[in-house]
Amino acid sequence: MNISIIGTGYVGLVTGACFARLGNRVICMDSDKRKIDLLKDGVMPIFEPDLEKLVSIYTKQGMLEFVDDVEYAVDKSELIFLCVGTPSGADGSADLGAVKGVCRDIAKAVKDYRVIIEKSTVPVRTNEVLNGLIREETAVHCDIACNPETLKEGTAIHDFMNPDRLIIGTETGGADSALIRLINLYRNIASPYYIVDINSAELIKHASNAALAQKISFINMIAQLCEKTGADVIEVARAVGADKRIGRDFLNAGIGWGGSCFPKDLQALMYVCREHNIDAKLLEAVYCINEGQRGRFVDRIESGLGGLEGKVIGVLGLSFKPGTDDMRYAPSIHIISELMKRGAEVNAYDPKAMEKAKELEEFFGVVYCKDEYQTAEGVDALVILTEWKQFEWLDKIELRRIMGKPVIFDGRNIYSLDEMERLGFAYISIGRKAVNSGSVF
Ligand code: UGA
Repeated sequence: MNISIIGTGYVGLVTGACFARLGNRVICMDSDKRKIDLLKDGVMPIFEPDLEKLVSIYTKQGMLEFVDDVEYAVDKSELIFLCVGTPSGADGSADLGAVKGVCRDIAKAVKDYRVIIEKSTVPVRTNEVLNGLIREETAVHCDIACNPETLKEGTAIHDFMNPDRLIIGTETGGADSALIRLINLYRNIASPYYIVDINSAELIKHASNAALAQKISFINMIAQLCEKTGADVIEVARAVGADKRIGRDFLNAGIGWGGSCFPKDLQALMYVCREHNIDAKLLEAVYCINEGQRGRFVDRIESGLGGLEGKVIGVLGLSFKPGTDDMRYAPSIHIISELMKRGAEVNAYDPKAMEKAKELEEFFGVVYCKDEYQTAEGVDALVILTEWKQFEWLDKIELRRIMGKPVIFDGRNIYSLDEMERLGFAYISIGRKAVNSGSVF
């Protein structure tokens, strides 16, 4: 099929590359000419495992094309995916400016029937707004559909090719031409389909992200109780999650969720609830627990070290999760800026995110290191903020030798308590007992 992807951000690029891999001719369109020129030269604006390889293969085969001309993209494609950003507005609502803008551009360019598909995460009933815009611009009949994306950064290509389910929402909620085209598009992906009305499809995406964020905040609240009572959150999560009705995924306690999706989607869903006079206290609590998690972690570091003034802290991990260089709403932003505000000096290392981190105002003053060992040299404490696999395999004996004090604050629970105890580290993690902490507390 001939497809256009409007917006070459995270979702757009991965979606475009994966549709090309499924045998479609894909045009990725972005109004940012500089970005398009770089993509034409094979330069990726983001790090995502295997994306560069996929883009290079399918660009060479002529299955993937990058353009900044919306008319060309609309003219050449029967399916047009909207993949532009929907960031939080000042009041928490989803800012639909970009989605509306590209929708108008598409409507102005359209000459024949097209299916316009919402892939960006949008609030329920956005389709009605977009339909109105299209009708204002053109008399050509177009259908709108919603096919929300459920991929995770760091495993995006695998997730796209192996989704738990495909959600397709159309205006009729039944067998119309938009649905038939979308089913045809996904015919080689083995996954259950959820064919629904378009409002439900929009809401499914917001509700899914809210449910995932809720699970994480729930376990983070339980982790606080574990710390007060001597219970171990990893054991608790394992047994609670073994109940099939609950499930073990997304029950990893830590310094809270970040990224470009959960924070904005939760806020947008709260906003929609309030618009409809629905009590959003549950979502507010999910949000508040998450906000508190980072501050509590900094407080524990401060009290553990007997103050932060003049202390040197080595930070391992900056991105909001492993497998990405994405710094959007990364817990590290709040934690590092707070450590520095309270008087600490920060050395930091991340395998992929340092270039993006350097652009952030909150990180001015951070000293970036070439690897984990340089980060650890002479520090008063090492702090783990992202669970990159390579941090698990560090030579702990060497670490212990080069650190000023053998103290680790682990915001992602990557090490075993037994190992830390045996190696003589003071080790403070989330929702688990503190090990050898006599020397620090
Ligand atoms: C999330 C959803 O998982 C995807 O299904 C969805 O498609 C995507 O948002 C989106 O809306 O586009 P993503 O933000 O890429 O994906 O990453 P997640 O793996 O969901 O992690 C989000 C945050 O939760 C990270 O900060 C991670 O560290 C944290 N997390 C995750 C935990 O603290 N504990 C867990 O058990 C799991």
